[in-house]
Amino acid sequence: MNRDLKKLIAAMTLEEKAGMCSGADFWNTKGMERLQIPSVMLSDGPHGIRKQEGKADHLGLNESIKAVCFPSACATACSFDVDLIRKMGETLGEECQAVDLSMLLGPGVNIKRNPLCGRNFEYFSEDPCLTGKMAASYIKGVQSWDVGTSVKHFAVNNQEYRRMSASSDLSERTMREIYLPAFEEAVREAQPKTVMCSYNKVNGVFASESEELLTKILRDEWGFEGYVVSDWGAVNDRVEGLKAGLDLEMPASGGYRDAKIVEAVRNGELDEAVLDRAVERILKVVFDYADHRHPEAVFDFEADNEKATAIETECAVLLENNGVLPLQEGQKVVYIGEFAARPRYQGGGSSHINASKVTSALEAAEAKGRNVSYVKGFPWDGDEIDAQEVEKAVNAAKNADVTVIFAGLPDVFESEGYDRKNMKMPNCQDYLIEEVAKVQPNTVVVLHNGSPVEIPWADKVAAILEMYLGGQGVGEACDRLLYGQANPSGRLPETFPIRLEDNPSYLSFGGDGKTVDYTEGIYVGYRYYEAKKLPVRWSFGHGLSYTEFRYDNLRVSSPMLNDESQIQVEVDVTNVGAREGKEVVQLYVSDRNGTVNRPVKELKGFQKISLKPGETKTVQMQICARDLSFYHEELKDWYAPTGTYELLVGHASDDIRLRCEIQFTTKKVLPFHVSGETTVGELLVNPRTAGATAGFLAELQKQSDPKEYTSDEETDTKMMQAMLDGMPLRSLLLLGVPGTAIESLIDTLNMFVD
Ligand code: BGC
Repeated sequence: MNRDLKKLIAAMTLEEKAGMCSGADFWNTKGMERLQIPSVMLSDGPHGIRKQEGKADHLGLNESIKAVCFPSACATACSFDVDLIRKMGETLGEECQAVDLSMLLGPGVNIKRNPLCGRNFEYFSEDPCLTGKMAASYIKGVQSWDVGTSVKHFAVNNQEYRRMSASSDLSERTMREIYLPAFEEAVREAQPKTVMCSYNKVNGVFASESEELLTKILRDEWGFEGYVVSDWGAVNDRVEGLKAGLDLEMPASGGYRDAKIVEAVRNGELDEAVLDRAVERILKVVFDYADHRHPEAVFDFEADNEKATAIETECAVLLENNGVLPLQEGQKVVYIGEFAARPRYQGGGSSHINASKVTSALEAAEAKGRNVSYVKGFPWDGDEIDAQEVEKAVNAAKNADVTVIFAGLPDVFESEGYDRKNMKMPNCQDYLIEEVAKVQPNTVVVLHNGSPVEIPWADKVAAILEMYLGGQGVGEACDRLLYGQANPSGRLPETFPIRLEDNPSYLSFGGDGKTVDYTEGIYVGYRYYEAKKLPVRWSFGHGLSYTEFRYDNLRVSSPMLNDESQIQVEVDVTNVGAREGKEVVQLYVSDRNGTVNRPVKELKGFQKISLKPGETKTVQMQICARDLSFYHEELKDWYAPTGTYELLVGHASDDIRLRCEIQFTTKKVLPFHVSGETTVGELLVNPRTAGATAGFLAELQKQSDPKEYTSDEETDTKMMQAMLDGMPLRSLLLLGVPGTAIESLIDTLNMFVD
């Protein structure tokens, strides 16, 4: 329906307009009967519906309606499958329409800076490219049902400790390259109806009051058209927030902050047009939903339960396998660990779903008549070694063909609202695994956790299957994978370091309570481990299959790329094993120009394909200038120097199968002004000043009485150049160059750069 929103707003009083900018209660926007404005409901999200009809809260403490719990983002990211997550979004969108929910609060796209963040299970990855593409696809899916999404938490909210007050302090380059691109991709590609600003401050300014983030970057640069909603309780100064671009405050403040808006307009502190603009943005989204209801939508619990199970089957990551998996029908198998009977399938906090039905791996095995027995071994929660249970487990393991231990993190170990204390699994679990592995070589470990754990027994077991927090169908999905009814195809969306201390933010994570310095800069996840050549437990992108793939024939549509063009990258992938399976083809880019401070390589594309035994498919991906670029703080733009770049294609970040070089040319010119502070080295690497500088140095050398450092003249020259490299021009005085000569050199060089 075509509505004149401006006219509607003109018919409101100042108080009514201020009121429209905050919720009616915990979950609903305000309606207005007089002007036929409906009230609509917003709710969590992201991996299922948490619609509360009774007592409300933002931490998942009170009951919500029964719904289907899909795998959390930590799991769905492993699928590396944008079509799959789109379908999950579509299902969620339909469910929302069926229960009259106008907005699903998600996806969460914060980067996993450190394995300890309590909320990592709700986030996708340590990598912005993977995060952005998965998020955009999820949004498209949900919104295809005219239900809104809220991409969150904008921005740089990477820990739970003091999340409502701490300031995340980081360089602009780090923010642009690591922490913002997923939001950018989501906005540019999928135009979410809303963006949720985070609780924390960014470089000292509350995200809810940051004009830089909420207006300049989000709207002016990326073209965001929806409204910005506060995270629940993230408002500090309502008027400053409104000015900065925060439109809707949630939940209601009981009228307290609405009155501040009215007062600010009355005393001239706030332009009424700013208020009108916010109301218009909110109403546009409200009516987008109200005018597009789908009476045909149904919430089919059974069908959606199967979808949740099928999705999780595509997500689980086979981390290790010496051939023990898949299990054979008829083998005598013992399941150990309470997670086998009662899986951990979701995290705590605002995303907590009242699951309609949960299937455990034990139930799934029993339903299929498998030869499986069960020993509890250790408790679901807590960390006490139960000697009797351990003994039972060891004895059962001795008498079985295969033992499968269902382990992971108990609920209390990871949740929204607080961070983990360490990266370890409960000691009682590590202990039991070691004891069982001593007597049973065919020991398989199935993990249920929202974020990496330390795995000291990795080399002592036969196979490890990572389910992450796989939603209510996790048990059935696990059964299908263990017994080869399905072939594992998940890949790690994050590195598993060997120990927490190896993580790049180990020393600064958490901060001092007031600020958190992002000291590692852009070196997050594999960007760091690769640069440091640190051994890790499992690399980003790693994941095994029951089949094998071969890569051939990497080719590009052109070996030349420029600022405007695109290159098509193609590679042939063949299933060379005996089973049907899925491969995630990963494309990384590496700067070969010796540019300072660039990661060894960065993910820029991926595609998941399904192949029958012997089948070959050609995978196509695109590369453009932005994929080669880093964020140049002085230029205030993305920049890639003219030169050589390598494209790397493979199965995982540590398993590159094919590579080729391309040449890039840019017309972008870096700002450069020569002064007494400019170093000789800077002049020599800049193509515009290199020639003149080299000439000057040659002259200088001729005039001097060069000291002989070595017996070789060429080596002496190189040594002198290396010493001069970091010398600012003003210091040439020390070498006897007259001050006037330095001044005229600076003038001459500036003629080359201006
Ligand atoms: C969380 C959000 C959530 C909101 C509403 C907050 O505590 O940070 O992610 O959407 O509550 O429950």
